[in-house]
Amino acid sequence: MLRLKNVVKTFGALRAVDNVSLEVNEKEIVGLIGPNGSGKTTLFNLIMGALHPESGKIIFQGRDITNLPPFKICHLGINRVHQIPRPFLKMTVIDNVITAYLYGRRGNKYEARSKALEALEFVGLKEKALLSASALNLYERKLLEISRSLVTGCKLLLLDEIIAGLNPAEMERAENMIRKIRDELGITIFWIEHVMKAIKKVAERVIVMNQGKKIAEGKFEEIASNEEVIKAYLGEKP
Ligand SMILES: Nc1ncnc2c1ncn2[C@@H]1O[C@H](COP(=O)(O)OP(=O)(O)OP(=O)(O)O)[C@@H](O)[C@H]1O
Ligand SMILES: [Mg+2]
Repeated sequence: MLRLKNVVKTFGALRAVDNVSLEVNEKEIVGLIGPNGSGKTTLFNLIMGALHPESGKIIFQGRDITNLPPFKICHLGINRVHQIPRPFLKMTVIDNVITAYLYGRRGNKYEARSKALEALEFVGLKEKALLSASALNLYERKLLEISRSLVTGCKLLLLDEIIAGLNPAEMERAENMIRKIRDELGITIFWIEHVMKAIKKVAERVIVMNQGKKIAEGKFEEIASNEEVIKAYLGEKP
């Protein structure tokens, strides 16, 4: 579904993404892990078109999207949930979702509202639809971001640290939500996370980055016993 071929992104002398090739298959849940600053979020920025690579290619469903602008990539079916949710705090929850639905498209207001309610119901935020987004806690803001992605009709969802910062009960709910998005909506998940317990439980395949490079990939158990991966995490098991 998604294919990166020898993708390079530099910031001055820093090779933030260094010759990365990878594939994400349709309906997979793929984890992306690596120490702080290893290039994970930059990789997502490249996929979303927020940044463009110096070299390499990004292919989505057979189409070269390497230099497309973000709104085009969104319309082709890729969306992401940011590391730090930033809803429009002065708007209601539902208006936040409606705005995402209408992003870059001429919309029918009634249709937008019904799609937004459907997405809010899916993530479990329907009762809070009319509250101001500022009334939501961190977990609920993450759910709001997810519903904003879902109304775009995405086929590939990029999650950037959805679990980090949540309490154990919320963590479990978020893990179930990730599975539910894939199982019930058939959406492919590419997911950055530092919480290894969650990755171990939910990701079907894991890709490991270190200093901009892809250093390993495989099932969690395989990468957790990989010498280079253990070294990247300074002797701690990932
Ligand atoms: N816009 C930018 N300009 C300059 N340097 C950047 C920019 N964005 C990222 N970097 C640098 O690129 C490297 C990779 O950053 P990135 O945010 O992709 O890491 P990450 O793997 O997502 O880390 P974390 O786990 O802490 O979120 C870091 O050294 C970072 O400082
Ligand atoms: Mg990051």
